[in-house]
Amino acid sequence: MVSPSSITKLVFLACFVLFSFSDNLVTGQSDKVQLNLYYESLCPGCQMFIVDELVKVFDSDLFTITDVKLVPFGNAEISDNKTVICQHGEEECKLNAFEACGIKILTNPKSQYKFIRCIENDTKNYEQNCFQGFGDDQKEVMNDCYNSDLSKKLILENAKQTMSLKPKHEFVPWVTLNGKPLYEKLNDWVAQVCKLYKGKAPLPKECSSGSVLSETVKTTSELQFSYVNDAMIIN
Ligand SMILES: *[C@@H]1O[C@H](CO)[C@@H](O)[C@H](O)[C@H]1NC(C)=O
Ligand SMILES: *[C@@H]1O[C@H](CO)[C@@H](O)[C@H](O)[C@H]1NC(C)=O
Repeated sequence: MVSPSSITKLVFLACFVLFSFSDNLVTGQSDKVQLNLYYESLCPGCQMFIVDELVKVFDSDLFTITDVKLVPFGNAEISDNKTVICQHGEEECKLNAFEACGIKILTNPKSQYKFIRCIENDTKNYEQNCFQGFGDDQKEVMNDCYNSDLSKKLILENAKQTMSLKPKHEFVPWVTLNGKPLYEKLNDWVAQVCKLYKGKAPLPKECSSGSVLSETVKTTSELQFSYVNDAMIIN
């Protein structure tokens, strides 16, 4: 026979389970695979990964199991006086800062990605091309961010995130999945995301072996890495 006290316990347990569950929903804890990309503007391998590879997240149903976080900074350095020194010179610093502003202002992951992809696909004409669809207000907010201390603050924040990576990044593009680096195995990233996903949603079609295998993924040798210790490429 069930004693009243065990019924009470059961009710408590049920409430606890329900409560924790709704708590997860409220705090937006996601069971998606967290894909972080640490990169810098003007690095050819980063451009290739952003333009040709990451697009798969947003063009397919891979989006349902993947959270993308873009962290522009890469192999840049912070000098003692807090000046940012970029591997590809001043222009890289400028674009990193613009992109950091875009990520801050465009809160929707798809809009963030579209903006970054647009810049990295054509870094010469981004001003004409990539602000289309922005309202006047948004353009102003973007320029204000870039011209103010906010962009500097965002870049220093990205620097902190990049420099506190464990293990440290060795080159860019540097991808982590749920915090673990993919190292050189960037061409395998879709399959790895699918493998890591343990959530309740059905696996995206993109994960079915057929479509993963038939992808014309770039081989590692085609992706050009920019190494941490590469000399500064001033152009
Ligand atoms: C900061 O340091 C960099 C590199 O060490 C140097 O080139 C630059 O002139 C310094 N800037 C200021 C404002 O001191
Ligand atoms: C990339 O840039 C080229 C040249 O400016 C342009 O024709 C093309 O539409 C762009 N692609 C994307 C995805 O933005």
